[in-house]
Amino acid sequence: MSDTLAIPNPRTLLTADHERIEDQLDELKNAAEAGVDSRTLCEIWHRVEHGLLAHLRAEEDLLFPRFRAEHAGIWASLRFDHERIRSMLSEIGLQVELHVVHAHTLLEIVALLRRHKETEDHTLHRWLEEIAHDPEGHRLVEQVEAAIEE
Ligand SMILES: [Fe+2]
Ligand SMILES: [Fe+2]
Repeated sequence: MSDTLAIPNPRTLLTADHERIEDQLDELKNAAEAGVDSRTLCEIWHRVEHGLLAHLRAEEDLLFPRFRAEHAGIWASLRFDHERIRSMLSEIGLQVELHVVHAHTLLEIVALLRRHKETEDHTLHRWLEEIAHDPEGHRLVEQVEAAIEE
């Protein structure tokens, strides 16, 4: 019974992770603008990439299967966003490798992620909050928490 109290609020959890990713992207932008050395830039980049990919995978592997069954239309648009985010990540990864990170590319991914988070907040996050009271939903929240904090 008290188990329900042991999990974080799903919306707070996922929103906080989005904010963490945005802060890291901001750090990357500042570092690129300050002209830091390649190694430092790569280190910052790997943290951004790791955190963002973990977030996408947690949603896709843990939440999307059940969410899709209940909200196919929204699932398709979130999945499409994820593909765009991944393709932008590849583009930024290449820029980091070449040590020519373009501020406009970073601003573009930040804007895309913000829109995506807003959509998720009134769809996926709210849905997870609703199902968090059933045992399977409760377990999903725990798994998501563990996956994004790795
Ligand atoms: Fe997402
Ligand atoms: Fe998300």
